[in-house]
Amino acid sequence: MNFKDQLTNYIELVNSHLLTYFNCKEGHNKTLIESMEYSITAGGKRLRPILALASYELFGTDIEQIMPYACALEMIHSYSLIHDDLPAMDNDDYRRGKLTNHKVYGEGNAILAGDGLLNYSFELMLDFALKQKKIYSHVRSIKEIANSAGVNGMIGGQIVDLESEDKSISEDVLNYIHLNKTAALITAPLKVGSIIGGGSEEDIKTMEKVGLNLGLAFQIRDDILDIIGDEDKLGKTVGKDIENHKSTYPALFGLENSIKKVEELTKNVNSLLKPYGDKASFLLDLNNYLLQREF
Ligand code: IPE
Ligand code: IPE
Ligand code: MG
Ligand code: MG
Ligand code: MG
Repeated sequence: MNFKDQLTNYIELVNSHLLTYFNCKEGHNKTLIESMEYSITAGGKRLRPILALASYELFGTDIEQIMPYACALEMIHSYSLIHDDLPAMDNDDYRRGKLTNHKVYGEGNAILAGDGLLNYSFELMLDFALKQKKIYSHVRSIKEIANSAGVNGMIGGQIVDLESEDKSISEDVLNYIHLNKTAALITAPLKVGSIIGGGSEEDIKTMEKVGLNLGLAFQIRDDILDIIGDEDKLGKTVGKDIENHKSTYPALFGLENSIKKVEELTKNVNSLLKPYGDKASFLLDLNNYLLQREF
């Protein structure tokens, strides 16, 4: 299957599985659940679940084994976006081409929709893990995901991102922000794919390196697109980083150096994947596709 068909295939698989977790909207909490579904189904590239599936398929054969983790990662990512867009954080009105959660449902609801998605992700992973005969790799994966989303992962990166507005920061701090707020939740699916798929400890380490390079490149490209991107394609307002006085790669090093850095990181990922040969062709193509992405 060619890259584009495989990408579409993965997206459809993820979307159909995600919907199965939102089939009950009857109780007194139904507006909250509806708002969680609103953000989850608004679109999005589904990069994190796709990385989980593609990494899993390097090692394993039963894709249903990775689906709960792929869906959980997308829920955690979507929660991070709902909170990221709140007035107290980046104050954004558009996400995935639609009004942000708080613009439609109000701030109190948006906070709880984020919390709801985060908690729900762990409920569904644990439900699945408890049904398995051998649970070690499942518990290990859930711990991996918890760490990547937590104070020493995404949340840690987000707070330093906020604290670095209106400031001149060092390259070291900038890397801390990007590696944590973004690369952590991109590394987790790659690692979990290899853990659940039965990869060796060396494979898991390689997937971690792939994630850190790809994740850093992904956030630098996001920073670049905030300057040169097209709002219709991105589905979010551009120019927000300058407006919010964010510390970004282009702000510290300029646009040209940022583009070069993304190219360098993309090459690193290609070298790390090379030993896997044809089996890694989807991940290789995805990596090269992300280098030039416009949304
Ligand atoms: C946006 O992530 C936030 C960043 C970490 C840059 P994505 O660009 O993956 O957003 P969606 O999921 O496609 O909407
Ligand atoms: C957000 O980074 C990273 C998250 C953990 C949500 P940004 O704030 O740059 O993401 P966008 O540009 O709003 O998507
Ligand atoms: Mg932000
Ligand atoms: Mg933001
Ligand atoms: Mg951004």
